[in-house]
Amino acid sequence: MKKLLFSTLVLFSGLALHAQTVIPAEVTSLLEKNGCVACHKVDKKMVGPAWIDIAAKKYSKKKLVDLVYKPVPENWPGYVPMQPMPQVPKADAGKIADWIVKMGK
Ligand code: HEC
Repeated sequence: MKKLLFSTLVLFSGLALHAQTVIPAEVTSLLEKNGCVACHKVDKKMVGPAWIDIAAKKYSKKKLVDLVYKPVPENWPGYVPMQPMPQVPKADAGKIADWIVKMGK
């Protein structure tokens, strides 16, 4: 059911998506502080894929954290490769990953 709801929200992006894509204030500040906002937006493709598209891949938290430090560009054909971001604190990456996992449920 949750999965169905998520797909529906993705299909009817726009108004319906709003509830799903509100970013908690703490996550917003982490995304800003760590520079993720330069390339990722919640529901639109920019330099990098939209957060909801990443969430749709249903990665585990650990996998998401790993991907911040060691991106796998082959997962996203058609995008420029993301550079590894070793400067991101583990705790920050973990909180961002928690949020992405939650969004994908
Ligand atoms: C300079 C642009 C840029 C910045 C800054 C950036 N990303 Fe990315 N990101 C990308 C691109 C491009 C991709 C898709 C290609 C790739 O994975 O290499 C991507 C992919 C990802 C993925 C999906 C990886 C996969 O294999 O499915 C995650 C998760 C991610 N980024 C998280 C982050 C987080 C968290 C931050 C901030 C700490 C961040 N990114 C900062 C450009 C960026």
